[in-house]
Amino acid sequence: MIKTRKELIDTYLNFFKLKKHNIIRGASLIPENDPTVLFTTAGMHPLIPYLLGQPHPSGKRLTNVQKCVRTDDIDEVGDCFHHTFFEMLGNWSLGDYFKDESIKLSFEFLTNVLQIPKEKLAVTIFEGDEDSPIDEESAKVWIKMGIPESRISPMPRKNNWWGPVGNSGPCGPDTEMFYFVGIGKPKEESNPKTKENEWCEIWNDVFMQYNKTKDGKYEELTQKNVDTGMGVERTLAVLQGLKDNYLTEIFIPVIERICILSKRRYGFNKNDTRAMRIIADHIRAAVFIMGDELKISPSNIGHGYIVRRLIRRAIRYGRQIGIKGNFCSFIAPIYIEYYQKDYPELEKNRNFILNELDREEERFKEVIENGLKEFDKIKRKSDKIISGHDAFILFSSYGFPIELTKELAKESGLDVEEYGFNQEFKEHQKLSRTATAGTFKSGLIDNSEETTKLHTVTHLLHQALRKVLGETIKQRGSNITAERLRFDFSFDRKLTEEELNEVETTVNNQIKEGFDVKREEMTIEEAKKKGALAFFDTKYGEKVSVYSIGDFSKEVCAGPHVTNISKLGHFKIIKEEAVAAGVRRIKAVLK
Ligand code: SER
Repeated sequence: MIKTRKELIDTYLNFFKLKKHNIIRGASLIPENDPTVLFTTAGMHPLIPYLLGQPHPSGKRLTNVQKCVRTDDIDEVGDCFHHTFFEMLGNWSLGDYFKDESIKLSFEFLTNVLQIPKEKLAVTIFEGDEDSPIDEESAKVWIKMGIPESRISPMPRKNNWWGPVGNSGPCGPDTEMFYFVGIGKPKEESNPKTKENEWCEIWNDVFMQYNKTKDGKYEELTQKNVDTGMGVERTLAVLQGLKDNYLTEIFIPVIERICILSKRRYGFNKNDTRAMRIIADHIRAAVFIMGDELKISPSNIGHGYIVRRLIRRAIRYGRQIGIKGNFCSFIAPIYIEYYQKDYPELEKNRNFILNELDREEERFKEVIENGLKEFDKIKRKSDKIISGHDAFILFSSYGFPIELTKELAKESGLDVEEYGFNQEFKEHQKLSRTATAGTFKSGLIDNSEETTKLHTVTHLLHQALRKVLGETIKQRGSNITAERLRFDFSFDRKLTEEELNEVETTVNNQIKEGFDVKREEMTIEEAKKKGALAFFDTKYGEKVSVYSIGDFSKEVCAGPHVTNISKLGHFKIIKEEAVAAGVRRIKAVLK
């Protein structure tokens, strides 16, 4: 019996090698030249050009194992078989064999190699619709193989049609293979249509005979292809009679570590078990995405946002089961070690992965407790629906991805007004794009009290420098952490002791004035007309936020700010130095 992931993968690849398939390398998780999809979602994904007719250097029969990420149902993860990251075994015919041989190969592998009794197999086929007829050909081959008609279920497009990935590309009807996971022997009438819970899908043979065009038409391909996919985690579990993928050797060491960290047990309490699965799944996916050849850091956009969502959701569930302190980087090394032979990029990027996990956990840790408290407050005042504005506050001030807010809301029987959130989010993105156009990064997610204060005092510093050194100085960059601010500006000599003192005094005098900070939105042209400082390039007509502090400072900015400066504390310059010819750097703190 197959006991390990490695055995299953090797058995599969060797079988297809014997059947004259060439083993090819899996691709990166980040698709090349495909801006429509964030991640590689299936083994066929990197092969699209070859499925459309370009000759593959390794021939017409290929096989491999491919790392995949699917983000559609991140929120489904927590049951026993959904995963964000998974490995897919596949074999392909690029205009070589078609339905007949493909089904024969699948049947031989399942029954001869994996030794699954025929009685425990069932299949589904495409039932046909206005775009494509019922797949009778596949049904006939299955009957020839000895699968009784009662175990061959015709199913609609939503079940038995695969592709395209994104909006256009190769696609076609498929036939899916199911393994019996019910108790005892399957009854005569049991099949995936009548008794869904008794059957687990383990393999899918897709017959790619169409190309869906951008305008939605299905064109027959001259080259008829086969694309198959077998999920490693799921197949390994069912072959061992396990109903839970997390009980396979892939996850056991991780689940054990989560049990130790949380001092709770797996499989005893529904909520704890679900939380542990989410943590195990999400950290694995985050490790693979961050550790991909392209190295992805958590962020607020694109791939990075998915990593952020995964890590933050894992942290939230970690808190739920009582894990204290940082834990992601205690779990990640188990995966790195387990997978490193097949994916050396993980070992190569080990430090990067662990550091990024720690950093993200630090960032979120600071705000999660308060964010959850804020959520409770919002919940109490909300009637059935959480406003888009409140969801946005949770995002912008506490770093809660909208999906997390939705999940919390759902648990309390509430909805979230997503439209309103999206409007505010778009506005915020516009502003943050504006802010990152130069070297200025406003660190929008890191809205801790400290950074918010430092952002605000940076405006005072900027204006004070202009007063003391003259209006020709120009901001060249700024970087803010929770501990200090760093401000770079153009100036061609070292500042004297007196000048530094004068800058400090000017800033501190303003703080004493206790002005409110006013935020207005306007186009960049209006902002400039009003004398607001803006050092980065913005597009014509683009709306920006302008922050005014009394009459002293007016500046275009996208960072977080306090509403009144009286509580900023005492401003102190700790260093003044050169960073490049004609550029000075000031580091300062608030005490
Ligand atoms: N592309 C198909 C799937 O993902 C078969 O590999 O199921």
